[in-house]
Amino acid sequence: MRKPLIAGNWKLNKTLAEAEALAKALVKELADVTDTEIIIAPVFTALGRVAEIIADSPVSLAAQNCYPQETGAFTGEVSPLMLKDIGCQAVIIGHSERRQLLGETNQFINLKVKKALETGLQVILCVGETLDQRESGEMLEVLTAQVKGGLADLSPEQMTNLVIAYEPVWAIGTGKTASNEQAQEAHSFIRGLVQGLFDPDTSTACRILYGGSVKPDNVDGLMAQDDIDGALVGGASLNAEDFSRIVRFNKNRH
Ligand code: PGA
Repeated sequence: MRKPLIAGNWKLNKTLAEAEALAKALVKELADVTDTEIIIAPVFTALGRVAEIIADSPVSLAAQNCYPQETGAFTGEVSPLMLKDIGCQAVIIGHSERRQLLGETNQFINLKVKKALETGLQVILCVGETLDQRESGEMLEVLTAQVKGGLADLSPEQMTNLVIAYEPVWAIGTGKTASNEQAQEAHSFIRGLVQGLFDPDTSTACRILYGGSVKPDNVDGLMAQDDIDGALVGGASLNAEDFSRIVRFNKNRH
């Protein structure tokens, strides 16, 4: 009953011409998909053009970040209102690259989550532990702080427009995917956290994506896990053929 969601995070890649070409290829390859929700997240400068290209397709548009204010003296930032205005339906918030490289805290991420939801954008909230944290036994503590911090003050109604992405930092861009069991264990733990914060209906309905080196050859095993409802794909989303294969993962469980 949780509709699978495959999201492509293009990160800092693709010029406008390259983004147009990839968006056109995806529209062509994925035109008939109805059983899986599809989102792509290009760089800010390509959003407007990609929005036009995917307008009549099953592919939706997300930004990779936003600022938690509508307008004002915030040089270099982009607000959820402006993302909606340019055609985004969703926004990725709290990606580990932003947490690590730009020092984003759970508190700041929570402000963004709330502003984006208020504006009517779907939120993909990213959480995940580093290798050090996993090896020193802090993983559950870190995930708890990220989930509780990111979801602070939200209502169960707001949770219907929010997706969580579990992305172990050690698996991002490294080619080292979490095993199906490691991913399932973390997802089940996160679902338990959502239940504790809200209620069983909210946690049962909440989609939890796995991210970290998802590829055509490992997506089926991951998607077969009970608590894995989709994928947030980086590297493999930059290639239309690979991303389309991931979208068309083996649906045995779903
Ligand atoms: P990757 O990135 O698929 O290249 O590991 C995933 C992500 O960071 O969202």
